[in-house]
Amino acid sequence: MSAPSDTQRMEKIVSLCKRRGFVFQSSEIYGGLNGAWDYGPLGVELKRNLKNYWWQVTVHERDDVAGMDGSILTHPAVLRASGHVEGFSDPMIDCRTCKAHLRADQLVEKKGVKQCPNCGGKDLTAPRQFNLMFETHVGAATDESSIAYLRPETAQSIFVQFKNILEVSRKKLPFGIAQIGKAFRNEINPRNFTFRSREFEQMELEYFCRPEQGMELLEYWKEERLKFYENIGIPRSKLHVLTVPDEERAFYSKGTYDIEYDFPFGRQELEGIAYRTDYDLSQHQKASGKSLEYFDEEMKQRFVPHVVEPSAGVDRTVLALICEAYSEDQAPDEKGKMETRIVLRFHPRVAPVKCGVFPLLKNNPQLVAKAKEIVALLRLHMTVFYDESGAIGRRYRRQDEIGTPFGITVDFETLGEKDSALRDTVTLRDRDSMKQERVAIKDLPAIFRERLA
Ligand code: GAP
Repeated sequence: MSAPSDTQRMEKIVSLCKRRGFVFQSSEIYGGLNGAWDYGPLGVELKRNLKNYWWQVTVHERDDVAGMDGSILTHPAVLRASGHVEGFSDPMIDCRTCKAHLRADQLVEKKGVKQCPNCGGKDLTAPRQFNLMFETHVGAATDESSIAYLRPETAQSIFVQFKNILEVSRKKLPFGIAQIGKAFRNEINPRNFTFRSREFEQMELEYFCRPEQGMELLEYWKEERLKFYENIGIPRSKLHVLTVPDEERAFYSKGTYDIEYDFPFGRQELEGIAYRTDYDLSQHQKASGKSLEYFDEEMKQRFVPHVVEPSAGVDRTVLALICEAYSEDQAPDEKGKMETRIVLRFHPRVAPVKCGVFPLLKNNPQLVAKAKEIVALLRLHMTVFYDESGAIGRRYRRQDEIGTPFGITVDFETLGEKDSALRDTVTLRDRDSMKQERVAIKDLPAIFRERLA
């Protein structure tokens, strides 16, 4: 069952993203470029934390995965062999009434008649195949011979470099090659904020194996990937595993799962995990005439490896993190009156700013100096934001709204004015519980090491 959509909640999220600098429309001052987005100061930190954590658990914490970073410009032969030139298309239909270009699956059906979802028009063109790849030209000539493509997925450069990476990394099966990078698709209808964009990033792992390991590894990676989402703060109850039915699976795949998330606009795919058999390497071996076989020393066998591919969208996961984190609750204002608080409850691991540091008063040089000392101490370990303007409650709210998990306040006790035992201690506030504890400045790095791990 798909989750109901919540338009109002989504509108609030989009507005917060712009107001606080997570995501802006690309080329906004010129009217915007549809399907392209720019990440602002907070969005870029959130995205980077996500990618770094994926890289940490997928590459650094494993002995069986090597990384790569391939080019975006792709030789047409690569995408001919993979099937993208021929078949990477969506059926497109135009509405002759409102002139909308629609994906065939977006039409609505009323009393057995297909209609335009925008204007209800029934005067529709027949479906025609629309290739989603962006074509460009390399060099001065702009003829057939100079065509190149902006890659539609990062996966193909991994397959094409399989032999080189196998040789330099000296890995044995099963082993994987991981990549994070941009991909481009000329989507007919970009929509739902950053969810379906024309330029986006993927985090892909191609995990090569013996044929008999394929199905087992598909299960293994499904579980690993579910754990990953839980570890960045997306609860299991909001994640759904869809077993892609035989008729919807690529013909070469022996099994595919989609991991879906309950977005405010409905349940939608975050990641696909596919057992792609030996299709990709075999295609490239055939088309290039170069062997992409693996020699198994123990079994004395030469064969084309099979592959299991967990392929996640960076932008979709960032959007899921923001949607999951967004919440409103009641908190007391300066005078103790309850007011609505907007808070992004990011997992500390992905939060763009980890800690806010506030001197109680900005016109007290000792408080300011101490607060700046703390910023300098913590900056070596994490992203810190210094804020001295406005009432302390307002400063907390500003940090709550961007999801900063911790706030440190330097007050007169820090200076030892009331009780010398409290000299060089600060209050440490927790974003979610709003509880404050008194801790020694010297203990802060260790406390954060533990709470941000
Ligand atoms: N190599 C396999 C592959 O690319 P895919 O299901 O087409 O498979 C994988 O894409 C992931 O990339 C999706 O689950 C999604 O998270 C992300 N993705 C695909 N198209 C996207 C788009 N137009 N905008 C944002 N993310 C997209």
